[in-house]
Amino acid sequence: MGEELKVSKIQRGTVIDHIRAGMAPAVLKILGIEAGIPDVVVMAMNVHSHKLGRKDVVKIENVILDEGTLQKIAIIAPQATINLIEDYRVVHKHKVSLPKALRGVVRCPNRNCITNAPEERVLPLLVLEREDPVELRCHYCEELVRGDRVELL
Ligand code: CTP
Ligand code: ZN
Repeated sequence: MGEELKVSKIQRGTVIDHIRAGMAPAVLKILGIEAGIPDVVVMAMNVHSHKLGRKDVVKIENVILDEGTLQKIAIIAPQATINLIEDYRVVHKHKVSLPKALRGVVRCPNRNCITNAPEERVLPLLVLEREDPVELRCHYCEELVRGDRVELL
């Protein structure tokens, strides 16, 4: 109830709930709304959660997220819940999920990796090694990447 008083409801759009505390700005970056959009965006950081202790929440009116965007959110916020809102009601709720491998989504942090040599034209391929916290391993050079530190493409 406490957080409901702090964060207003939206009429129609998407609520990304249960984001790990501190990761909401990274979610906004993935959504590409740092530069500003005409629709209502509500962000709450470090609000109380029974499940997580503290959590972040991002609400965006009139936006439905595509699969690629949901994958990126899952990398940095593996516990996130996606709620679709219509007429102020939750009409669909699902957890984010990650595929076993991500091609062309995350950069390998190893500067010597073949995927960072433009002339080689090899798309990064990272394999999911751990789900929560997310850990990915480069298929080519075996570098390990933490989900909360990834450089998204
Ligand atoms: N929400 C919103 N605007 C609405 C309806 C819901 O912003 N018109 C938000 C709520 O504030 C909440 C999330 O969407 O952050 C999910 O809503 P709801 O399912 O009603 O809340 P809970 O039951 O607490 O969700 P969960 O069980 O997933 O924790
Ligand atoms: Zn690599």
